[in-house]
Amino acid sequence: MKNIRSSVALVSVCSVLLVATAAGQDSGDTDNGKQLYFDHACYSCHGYGGIGRRNIANNASGILVSEEVFITYLRARADQNPQFPTQTMPNYAASSLSDDDARDIYAFIRTLKDDPPEVDDIPALKGILEDAETGL
Ligand code: HEC
Repeated sequence: MKNIRSSVALVSVCSVLLVATAAGQDSGDTDNGKQLYFDHACYSCHGYGGIGRRNIANNASGILVSEEVFITYLRARADQNPQFPTQTMPNYAASSLSDDDARDIYAFIRTLKDDPPEVDDIPALKGILEDAETGL
């Protein structure tokens, strides 16, 4: 029940911020954000390139619509509505990840693009697949 209330509160907060801040400017430092993405172990679940347990590359996540929404998402899980430690996403409180650092991480995440090459552009893989098709 608490989780349902938490989710409803989070969605409400995010909806308001979505409307209020969609036109906001990003201010983070992508190089520092990249370092922080590794320091805070975001990569361990979201992958080196934003493709992992939950994809956040290609601006796929609505949470990434603005840095305010992103920071609200982090804080809603921690400062405003602390959760028990979970096996999903950790709680990133302001005391462990400052707003400035969160802005830098946000700027870095927004640069992540998942753009894998076509099979035709990888000769070795193409050969393996062709051999598999012909049974060699
Ligand atoms: C232990 C694994 C884990 C770590 C570490 C982790 N996340 Fe997540 N993250 C998740 C999971 C699972 C979800 C989706 C479910 C949830 O919200 O709990 C998620 C959701 C998200 C979302 C929203 C994605 C969506 O579905 O719209 C963003 C953005 C995000 N994480 C960013 C980060 C950042 C930035 C860090 C590091 C500061 C981080 N995560 C660390 C597991 C993780």
